[in-house]
Amino acid sequence: MDTQVVIIGGGPSGLLLSQLLNRAGIATVILERSTREHVLSRIRAGILEWGSVELLREAGVGARMDAEGFAHDGTWITDADRMVHIDFKALTGKRVMVYGQTEVTQDLYAAQDAMGATILHGVEDVRILDLDGPQAAVEFTLNGEKRRLTCAYVAGCDGFHGVSRRTIPEEKRREFERVYPFGWLGILSRTPPVNDELIYANSPHGFALASMRNANLVRYYVQVPLRDTVEDWSDERFWTEFRRRIPSSAAAKLITGPSIEKSIAPLRSFVSEPLRWGRLFLVGDAAHIVPPTGAKGLNLAASDVFYLHQALTEALKQNSDKGIDAYSDRALRRIWKAMRFSWQMTTMLHRFDGEDSFAAQMRRATLAHLAESETARRDLAENYVGLPY
Ligand code: FAD
Ligand code: DHB
Repeated sequence: MDTQVVIIGGGPSGLLLSQLLNRAGIATVILERSTREHVLSRIRAGILEWGSVELLREAGVGARMDAEGFAHDGTWITDADRMVHIDFKALTGKRVMVYGQTEVTQDLYAAQDAMGATILHGVEDVRILDLDGPQAAVEFTLNGEKRRLTCAYVAGCDGFHGVSRRTIPEEKRREFERVYPFGWLGILSRTPPVNDELIYANSPHGFALASMRNANLVRYYVQVPLRDTVEDWSDERFWTEFRRRIPSSAAAKLITGPSIEKSIAPLRSFVSEPLRWGRLFLVGDAAHIVPPTGAKGLNLAASDVFYLHQALTEALKQNSDKGIDAYSDRALRRIWKAMRFSWQMTTMLHRFDGEDSFAAQMRRATLAHLAESETARRDLAENYVGLPY
């Protein structure tokens, strides 16, 4: 065999899996379609569950995160001017870390380079073959040349639009999907955060989220109709809309400035089962998508990687198939609970076009219950900081 594990996709899932396997003495090759610069330019997730923090430390990439990330002990959920504090630390004993996906990815590339890992960029036409034979093969084109690698296992870490999931015959896949009738417009701006903790804001004008990357860099979002494009949203329009969706006490402190990035992401819940097909394993966005409300996307990718690196290490080092046989069920149990939480947070906080007055009252009642019940707040906190692996 050419290598032990071929990993399709050099995003956070593929890099973290490779890093953990390499540290366990297992050889990998990562095949990534884009350039490294492109992967690092994608502004996406910003919040790490504590389980993800510990996994990154275990992978030997925790130093910069621990020095530059911000641990948050709570968050705010608001309904117009009603503000509910969710005190993670008091309710669960845990916290979360504010540290951007681009930083995580950059740290993983640096660690992989230091280990001499093989990461091929610009690969095209990836085909995954021989998944039910004694060894798998992956064919691809690199710099116009056809190449073939044989391996024991293939990890499909190639995101929602990748080839791995589609390699599993359609009649063997069960897919579950919910598409939401809105997207999130996000901006990055070099301004100080409006609040020291995140604010998830429900309002009569729709949802807004105030997040951050550091003391002088904010990431703010507003819910927008699916038909909107970034060209429809001047900075001025964004700030006006954002200001009227957050509580007035926060709006009074808001400092605005030019945006340095602006993008729109549609919201979707999606799961494809099973996560294993012979010698192929699906990981992260290749197998599931959550709407971003609740910050679960990157964290679910991390828990999949946790289960799979253990399973592959058992298979390749201890000659035991127990872990790889259990991988799909084990990962899916956690995935479905995060699916439920992300769907519930999305439903609780967004305005649905054409909704009736009953729906808006249900949202307000959910928020009122959260304000009055410590049990409800603990339930939210337990899910937000991350369910155990
Ligand atoms: P990806 O990050 O998608 O990485 C997959 C990699 O595979 C990519 O680098 C891609 O180039 C490569 N690839 C694809 N196809 C092929 C192929 N055929 N051959 C080789 N390589 C291939 N999560 C949050 O928690 N909060 C957020 O605010 C948030 N915002 C998001 C905004 C957007 C626009 C998107 C798309 C996602 C967002 N997410 C967010 C989700 C989070 O970013 C993902 O869950 C996370 O990136 C999953 O990592 P991954 O490595 O599994 O997949
Ligand atoms: C961020 C994104 C999220 O989806 C979320 O729930 C919290 C923070 C962010 O980009 O900072």
